Amino acid sequence: MSVLPIVMWPDVRLQTECAAVEAIGPEIEQLVGDMFETMYTAPGRGLAAPQVGVMRRLFVMDTTWKDGDMNPLVCINPSIVPLSDAQNTNEEACLSIVGVSADVSRPNKIELSYTGLNGTRETEVLEGFAAVCAQHEMDHLNGIVIFDQLDAPERAALEAKYKEMI
Ligand code: NI
Repeated sequence: MSVLPIVMWPDVRLQTECAAVEAIGPEIEQLVGDMFETMYTAPGRGLAAPQVGVMRRLFVMDTTWKDGDMNPLVCINPSIVPLSDAQNTNEEACLSIVGVSADVSRPNKIELSYTGLNGTRETEVLEGFAAVCAQHEMDHLNGIVIFDQLDAPERAALEAKYKEMI
């Protein structure tokens, strides 16, 4: 496994919708291994394929490893259904937008469906930070980042702050 370079905003690949993963084989297995290595090294709790320059619908996450409890999750061709009208606002950071964070509102309970590396389709209900993380990573597959979740003045201010740092 190797650590891959992370694509940084405003790279156009972070603003582009990804295509479905068509077949799960050695190439995808290798990619997933490298993405976990990259995510844990960064260190982060979620990483989407376009963040390493692969324009496919795939992300990895592990929302508990920083607490000493490793739960790696591979989500291939994921889909999300909100299960709650209630929105939670959380401060979100992104490995592709280092140095700034944004308050983003999202449904606090979701149903996440995905295909795992074994090819089986799975569905689970997520709440709290896991729901936030899955929605953030799913956004990446649709070319959406935290800036896109802000209103125009907030976005302008945060982008200006980011551009000063890079
Ligand atoms: Ni991100």
